[in-house]
Parts: sequence; C-alpha cells; structure tokens
Amino acid sequence: MIVCPSITKRSIRRHYELATPFYRLLWGRHIHHGLWEKDESPAVAQQRLVDHLAAAAALAPGQAVLDVGCGMGGSTIDLARRYGCLTTGLTLSAVQRGWAALAARWQGVSRRTRFLQADAETIDFPPASFDVVWIIECSEHFFDKAAFFRRAAGWLRPGGRLAECAWLAGDSADATREALLVCEAFLCPSLGTAEDYHSWLTAAGLTVRTFEDLTARVAPTWNVCIRRVRASGIGLLGRLAGREMCLFLDHFATLGNAYRSGAMRYGLFLAEKAGYRSGGAAVDTSAKRR
Ligand SMILES: C[S@@+](CC[C@H](N)C(=O)[O-])C[C@H]1O[C@@H](n2cnc3c(N)ncnc32)[C@H](O)[C@@H]1O
Repeated sequence: MIVCPSITKRSIRRHYELATPFYRLLWGRHIHHGLWEKDESPAVAQQRLVDHLAAAAALAPGQAVLDVGCGMGGSTIDLARRYGCLTTGLTLSAVQRGWAALAARWQGVSRRTRFLQADAETIDFPPASFDVVWIIECSEHFFDKAAFFRRAAGWLRPGGRLAECAWLAGDSADATREALLVCEAFLCPSLGTAEDYHSWLTAAGLTVRTFEDLTARVAPTWNVCIRRVRASGIGLLGRLAGREMCLFLDHFATLGNAYRSGAMRYGLFLAEKAGYRSGGAAVDTSAKRR
C-alpha cells in the first residue's frame, strides 16, 4: 500500500464542495473513468463502466443498493431508473447531496432514491440493510480501508454483494514516486494494491468472486480530460479556486502515465457475503422509504 500522510478529510470534502460544478461541466454527471472500446463519447464510456459493474453485481429490480461516494448521483439514479433498484447515495459533500437529490427528482426517481451527506467511515446502518454495496472510485479517499470493508460487510444481507471499481497502486516498488504524486493531487490518503483489497475483503468475511484489471480500458479517460480542459475555459476558471485545484488540474497526465508505467492499476472487485440470496423483485419497499 502507498500512504500519503498530507491528505486530510477536510481537504477531500472541500475538493468536492468546490469542484462538483467543474466535474459536471468537464465530464458530465458521473465522476469516474470511462470504460472505452474505441473513440466513443465520454458519456457512453462512463455508462459502460456502470453497466459492466452492474452486470458483475447481478442487480435485480427491488434490490436495496447503497452507493458509497455517490458524487452527483450518477450511479444511484441509473440503478434506480434503469435497473429498478431502491438506492441510497452517500456522499461527504453537501453540495453533491443537494445536486443528486434534485437530479433524481428531475429524472422521476425521487421515490426510489435517497441521498445522505455523511462520512462513510463513520456512518452506521442497521445490520443486513442492503443487497449490494456499490462503490465507484471512493475508497481511494478512505483512511482505514480495512475497517470500512468490515463495517460494509455487516450492512450486507446474507448472499449480498460488494461491487467496487477502484484506483490501485501497482506492484513494483519503483512505481511509488509516481503513485504518490497521484495521491497528493487527487487527495488519496492511501492507495491499496489489488492484493491489499483482496485481503481486506477477505478479512471482512467476504469471498472475492471476481477481480478484473480494467487499466487499459479506462486509461484513455485522461487524454480526453486533458483535451477538454485545454479546449475550454474550465482550466483557467479552476485555477482561481486555489493551490489544491491547480495541483489537481496539473496532474491528469501523471495519472495517464502511471497507468502506462504500471505505477497504478484500475480494478473491479465483486465480493460476496455467505448465505442465501433472496430474489429482489417481489417486494416493493418504496412506500416505507418515504
Ligand atoms: C471520484 S468521486 C466518485 C463519485 C461517484 N461514485 C461517481 O462515480 O460518479 C468520489 C466520491 O466519494 C465521495 N467521498 C469521498 N470520501 C468520502 C467519505 N469518507 N464518505 C462518503 N463519501 C466520500 C466524494 O464526496 C465523491 O462523491
């Protein structure tokens, strides 16, 4: 694992409070990599990543999904609208919570979604609250990832799944410098290797069913971002927001290089809790959630 001690929870929250409108303008309603096949649009590539993880998680209508680190509610809303799930989005940022709730209303799924502003590292849910814990590019921001997975495993029902896409540290020791730069610029207190994630999930009592290395398919994201920043005024506008935002904007290429050099990888994990998995379609609990 690579550790970057200079990152604080406050700086992570501040980044998302400030940067959310920039993400929306630059990248769209999801704040995650695209899963590319060739030169499709970012919106199509981002949707493909959501659908790829949803297929791995075997989502079914009526299932309760917790979207940890929900951003502007991109996945939370899609999983409710297109997959018929009952979703809870959790974010550190008040701006994102409000934004996501408005977007859900706009898309006609406010009765199947709810959004909470809280720290996923301290919030608690009753045991066995969810069929799926869904995490796209959030655990990079956690300070104690092993403890988070132990708690998340408790929130899952028997047979429930934890579905995650995560930035990973590469395996080679000489990759540390590049990965540390990424941690600093993108506010990651640490980056685990694929093996670290495997052992955290296993120690939490989950069985890892799938690990997929998607590095090559997500890496084009950063060239597209660089082109978009250059072609728009977003970079200049972002620079007015201070040193941390400049660092962030200046290191898109570092991240692309880190994927190419092996300093970083991008992985999909599907881990399962032991027990019988009930079907999701039969029970409509939406009335109880209002
Ligand atoms: C890279 S964005 C990903 C957003 C979303 N998953 C998506 O794919 O569009 C990271 C998200 O994690 C959230 N986050 C970071 N640390 C968190 C924490 N400790 N608790 C809850 N959310 C957190 C941020 O607020 C942000 O929404």
